[in-house]
Amino acid sequence: MRRKIIAGNWKMNKTIVEAVALAAAIKREVGQIEHPVMVICPPFTALTEVSMALKDSEIQVGAQNMHQEDSGAFTGEVSAEMVLTSGCSYVILGHSERRTLFSETDQLVNAKTRKALTVGLTPIVCVGESLTQRQAGQMETVIEGQFNGLLDGLSAEEIRRIVIAYEPVWAIGTGQVATPEQAEEVHRFIRGLLARQYDEATASEITILYGGSVKGSNAAGLFAKENIDGALVGGASLKADEFVAIVKAMI
Ligand code: 13P
Repeated sequence: MRRKIIAGNWKMNKTIVEAVALAAAIKREVGQIEHPVMVICPPFTALTEVSMALKDSEIQVGAQNMHQEDSGAFTGEVSAEMVLTSGCSYVILGHSERRTLFSETDQLVNAKTRKALTVGLTPIVCVGESLTQRQAGQMETVIEGQFNGLLDGLSAEEIRRIVIAYEPVWAIGTGQVATPEQAEEVHRFIRGLLARQYDEATASEITILYGGSVKGSNAAGLFAKENIDGALVGGASLKADEFVAIVKAMI
């Protein structure tokens, strides 16, 4: 059985005080219920405090990015070890906002993914096509190209330690969620790529999350699909009740 995960990407939101309050509210609302793996990803500045606030819960903490080198003259950057020792077990890599706004390439994300794995972080590696690409009928080519670049050279053992997130760019922050059928089609396609590159058993073990305008009201339909193993949530993860509603839709 592959891991089901609900992850919240807080993006550039929340001061330390606000982040701790939101983490505490999520912990309170999720209470004692049996829940899937929950990961919250605050900004770097709040990682340590949020990790401490969640110490006595099963909720995991992740970063939203990291640098691929161990240390050195990289002003403004944060290493994998820094992320790990801030209390994180996950790291989001290759988010479309990093690719479009900060020029991250598949090769760079591949290097970051390898580094994250060497320190024992679980990378959540993002793929997804733009609206223009989808409308031009290029969805599969784009996803396959990203997949090959991002995961280039990873062994089956390494690939089993990553999580993939399918985030169609046209659905991120737009309120225009992919239909369960649209998302399932791509998730099935990605699992097929994994089976081809590795083997069926490996492909069936890998968690593939959907991201893009997920809310409490549309989550259950997505989670009902065979190949959708959870969600990477942006805007709706900034409100405790909405995020927990998504978690409950998985139960
Ligand atoms: P929204 O849920 O706000 O569309 O953002 C999705 C996302 O980018 C998560 O990484």
